[in-house]
Amino acid sequence: MILPQTRDGRDAAHYPVGVQGFGVDIGGSGIKGCLVDLEKGQLIGERLRIETPQPSLPDPVYDVVGRIVDHFGWAGRIGVTFPGVMKRGVAHTAANVDKSWIGTDLDAGLDARIPGTVETLNDADAAGIAEMRYGAGRDRRGVVLMLTFGTGIGSALFVDGRLVPNTEFGHIQVDGEDGERRASAAAREREELSYPEWARRVDRYLDVLEAGLWPDLIIVGGGVSKKAHKWVPLLSTRTPVVPAELQNDAGIVGAALAAHERTDR
Ligand code: BGC
Repeated sequence: MILPQTRDGRDAAHYPVGVQGFGVDIGGSGIKGCLVDLEKGQLIGERLRIETPQPSLPDPVYDVVGRIVDHFGWAGRIGVTFPGVMKRGVAHTAANVDKSWIGTDLDAGLDARIPGTVETLNDADAAGIAEMRYGAGRDRRGVVLMLTFGTGIGSALFVDGRLVPNTEFGHIQVDGEDGERRASAAAREREELSYPEWARRVDRYLDVLEAGLWPDLIIVGGGVSKKAHKWVPLLSTRTPVVPAELQNDAGIVGAALAAHERTDR
């Protein structure tokens, strides 16, 4: 069991839980972080959310991540999600954040601000990792697809529980348009669609995805998963679709888990 020390010298025994981690979820509108109980897959106490600086340039974003970590006095390893393709610490795409992120070494930037060890990964991959371990994908083998509906559509693909990273299925072409442009939660709000109207968009999007992938299970996450009863029953997919269980905390929990397991390796 790993019991990291917090910066103020308290050890993990201070908290009424076992193995702990720390996750930060960088999004286009908010940056959220919290201590995580890695045995239960739950946040420990209240998460801290700070508005994403606009424009969402790397340096101001690093500062916010640093403030969040300082707020909790955490000095152990941290996991940080990014809403774009992440390979060996470098961001390769930035669909919903400032384009200056493309080619930026997020690992190095964060390490300069928060000395220690940082694990960075795509936000949907982090959410998927958490759902597979603690939530709707627990003990599920076969091909499991996690989709997060928010500003964009994030995807995480698992084959017998192993992640295939950076799938980016939010950007498949659906009737000549970027999938997330038509079917994200932001599209529903932007175009003031009712849940039945938006469900038709999601249905068409899933149709195209299913034709190329044939998953065994689809887990739908993001804020709209709280209202799953309003739209999931309207879908006509051949694949079973279930709502995520960790909802908005999945990114933070998955980031903390990824960082922790990296320590173990
Ligand atoms: C990005 C993905 C991200 C998703 C959810 C998409 O626009 O390309 O990398 O996972 O949004 O934030």
